[in-house]
Amino acid sequence: MSNKLPVTYKLYSKDGKARTGKITTPHGEVETPVFMPVGTQATVKTMTPEELEAIGSEIILGNTYHLFLRPGDDLVAKFGGLHKFMNWKKPILTDSGGFQVFSLGAIRKIKEEGVEFRSHIDGSKQFISPEKSIHIQNNLGSDIVMLFDECPPGMSTEEYLIPSIERTTRWAKRCVEAHKRPDEQGLFAIVQGGIYEELREKSRKGLMEMDEYFSGYAIGGLAVGEPRDDMYRVLDYIVEKLPENKPRYLMGVGEPVDMLEAVEAGVDMMDCVQPTRIGRHGTVFTKYGRLVIKNACYSEDPRPLDEGCDCYVCRNYTRGYIRHLFKSQEILGSRLATYHNLYFLIKMMKDAREAIKDKRFKEYKDEFLNNYSKRGE
Ligand code: GUN
Ligand code: ZN
Repeated sequence: MSNKLPVTYKLYSKDGKARTGKITTPHGEVETPVFMPVGTQATVKTMTPEELEAIGSEIILGNTYHLFLRPGDDLVAKFGGLHKFMNWKKPILTDSGGFQVFSLGAIRKIKEEGVEFRSHIDGSKQFISPEKSIHIQNNLGSDIVMLFDECPPGMSTEEYLIPSIERTTRWAKRCVEAHKRPDEQGLFAIVQGGIYEELREKSRKGLMEMDEYFSGYAIGGLAVGEPRDDMYRVLDYIVEKLPENKPRYLMGVGEPVDMLEAVEAGVDMMDCVQPTRIGRHGTVFTKYGRLVIKNACYSEDPRPLDEGCDCYVCRNYTRGYIRHLFKSQEILGSRLATYHNLYFLIKMMKDAREAIKDKRFKEYKDEFLNNYSKRGE
């Protein structure tokens, strides 16, 4: 392995612990902090790659678990990898399956060797090990490959967490050894440890012994059922202990309030299915909080989804029209709401970057949260 990692980070500016920077990958650059739309099954649901580019997406996610089960990573490899398969030319990060097998595979057994589970598609028995997860991700050809980890439930006890962390650290070593494309795909380690500072520190230390192999670090096992304040406390504690010269990625967080807290703690990257999922079902973000477009009060409302938004949807369509689309179960409704929600979070992160550069992040965050909690315009 050459000593130059394929994914690098350059720090631009800091405001408190919040920071701006740039990640460089084999498929281009990403300004941080960044929100990453989730494209679980080789598509960000309802969005074409051209639309994603139009709203400023610089990087998207793919999922090892889903793509392994269908259509299969060998098939994706035959098309030249995930970028070519789905016609997305910018960076892709793939999650390892370490979360999905735990949240989706109803029946599962964790062993030292790996995890046994049943496919959510046809119930068939399946197995993913650290080596297999990396092999699948090598086939997918993502720019950023996540280590195979165990993501324990948010309220796990220390008794449960200690052996779990130790196993995840042993799995990390196996992932490093299994990685066949270290010059083309950067590896990200995942710090676990639940809501306990000393266990987060134990996980971080074990992983950082292999720091030379890692292009970045994720914080996993948060937003999985623990109280919000515990998540904020853990972030405030652990993020600053990660290497300053590598990106820090908070997994699975996409609620605006949590995202800004995370940025304040020094997080650079975030992802979540929430904006696309709630959008498809008719809930949209606005400056003044969430809005459920199906509600009768919007039937004659001539305003855009969010009066403060300049996205394509808000420039061209009314609440009354979009409500009609949802009430009539027209697909365009889901498309427009998804488009706006993703734009909203990407724009929020862009504004956060500007605020950090100008050293007014705290003011920006307070103003955003003050508006956002006003609810119902
Ligand atoms: N997505 C959200 N949380 C996690 C986690 O802890 N591990 C992995 N691999 N993915 C996640
Ligand atoms: Zn909009």
